[in-house]
Amino acid sequence: MNIGGLGRKSMSPIMHNAGYQELGLDFVYLSASLKIEDLEDFVKGVKAMQIRGVSVIIPFKQEIMNFLDNIDDTAKEIGAVNTVVNDNGRLTGYNTDWLGVVNSLKNVTEINGKKAAVLGAGGAARAAVYGLIKKGARVSIFNRTVEKAKKLAEDFDCEYFPLTDVEKIKEIDIILNMTSVGMSPEVDKLFLPENLIEKKHIVLDAVYNPHETKLLKNANKKGAKIVYGSEMLLHQGIEQFRMYTGVEAPEKIMRDALLEALREE
Ligand code: ATR
Repeated sequence: MNIGGLGRKSMSPIMHNAGYQELGLDFVYLSASLKIEDLEDFVKGVKAMQIRGVSVIIPFKQEIMNFLDNIDDTAKEIGAVNTVVNDNGRLTGYNTDWLGVVNSLKNVTEINGKKAAVLGAGGAARAAVYGLIKKGARVSIFNRTVEKAKKLAEDFDCEYFPLTDVEKIKEIDIILNMTSVGMSPEVDKLFLPENLIEKKHIVLDAVYNPHETKLLKNANKKGAKIVYGSEMLLHQGIEQFRMYTGVEAPEKIMRDALLEALREE
């Protein structure tokens, strides 16, 4: 089951259902839009209907923590839950977003010892900062609202800068856009000047719609290594799949289904 705010379309049902079908699992993944005031009733419904798991997207990732029986330590540290597992009526909240970041980067780079710049200081950025530090990177946070960058930097003991200091990115190895800037329909929005990106950089964009954002197009042009937002989405989903079903996810099938759905967007 997938829940999000009204009007948000999710790619997760397509990718999870493709995986269930491939493995012949007796699961079905549905999507629902909720009002935040109905969240508590929804959680009761999950127990009543014995729904095995829930993927939680914005704007409920923090709010849902109030209604669960247990929250795993990593989700507590990140301060957000994107995955709920129902074990015989007992609901536990987890966070797989950070694994989406580190496992999608793993395919193109070692993280340990690298300098990483996280652009943004919202929920997605928090998960990225947690994952990067856990895997041994040195992290600098850049955000438009400096107060938010400061809070995040204090929580995880790293550096922070206003977005206007973005030229510092020259010294960085891995650049991660953890904001919604560049997302459809505002695909031409870009806050990282093109000339700052070099061949030595690795650039990950959390935005997956469009598949290749303006930021990734620029990075590609410069010969930098790029990681698509769809890979991040896939890898956080692969972890969820294992938690819901108890079996390993069929990665290729799920990636293909996701990319096909994104192409049709
Ligand atoms: P999420 O949980 O997905 O990270 P969020 O909490 O709304 O969502 O955070 C969105 C992030 O994108 C924030 O870091 C936000 O910057 P502010 O803290 O200054 O609001 C950033 N963001 C959104 N639109 C932006 C824009 N036009 N320019 C720069 N940063 C932007």
